Amino acid sequence: MAWGWMPRLLLVVWAATVCSARDRTDLLSVCMDAKHHKTKPGPEDKLHDQCTPWKKNACCSASTSQELHKDTSLLYNFNWNHCGQMEAKCKRHFIQDNCLYECSPNLGPWIRQVDQSWRRERFLDVPLCREDCQSWWEDCRTSHTCKTNWQKGWNWTSGINECPVKAACHTFEFYFPTPAALCEGLWDHSYKVSNYSRGSGRCIQMWFDPAHGNPNEEVAKFYAEAMRAAAAPWAPTRALLLSPVLLLWVLG
Ligand SMILES: *[C@@H]1O[C@H](CO)[C@@H](O)[C@H](O)[C@H]1NC(C)=O
Ligand SMILES: *[C@@H]1O[C@H](CO)[C@@H](O)[C@H](O)[C@H]1NC(C)=O
Repeated sequence: MAWGWMPRLLLVVWAATVCSARDRTDLLSVCMDAKHHKTKPGPEDKLHDQCTPWKKNACCSASTSQELHKDTSLLYNFNWNHCGQMEAKCKRHFIQDNCLYECSPNLGPWIRQVDQSWRRERFLDVPLCREDCQSWWEDCRTSHTCKTNWQKGWNWTSGINECPVKAACHTFEFYFPTPAALCEGLWDHSYKVSNYSRGSGRCIQMWFDPAHGNPNEEVAKFYAEAMRAAAAPWAPTRALLLSPVLLLWVLG
């Protein structure tokens, strides 16, 4: 029995290898690798206006938060008023969407690699709370646009996005007949409308009152854990690898 522990050791080594290959440890409190994100989240005392809820832990700098409140900000040269002036009640949702995109450190579970010139990662299917999508849609239905997917297909000849000649301006409601059409179509499926409600701890809130902390932390934890469990059901054994108890087990 001198070498009786050998199979167990091999099992442990195998499990450790498989786990560390699959088990992403960087799903929580992370910043996406994109155009303006900081490399790591941290406190930002001077965040501007609608982005202030993220000031305790943010992926955006103060200057980014300021810039994204402007019409045709220098961040992306993107013009919201491409079919006449966007109404203020609508615009505030786009600003909030930008704040979440640039500032949130809680979207790790939905980061995916992409092959784009201006960023290496994107968000995919972030479960947006149904009310946040609903109010975005309701406040924008009477503003105007010319496209359903704002991620691509613009005429950039002038340096800012303009409607391609064949894309006529109509109301948001014309191009986005439902809240889901807006929230999911707009940025090429960055969001997926959740069936969960604000406060459920199961969907990402674009709007929140920082007096009660950032509700998206809990949401990210929940989905990160669910993804981890799905990818590596034996993940808890990993913690044991460090423990002397395990060594005793290996040695029989
Ligand atoms: C793009 O916009 C320019 C003017 O900025 C215009 O001359 C051109 O025809 C447009 N092209 C398309 C495909 O919309
Ligand atoms: C969504 O939620 C409603 C009520 O909260 C429920 O009746 C419905 O079955 C849910 N739909 C899905 C697809 O889970």
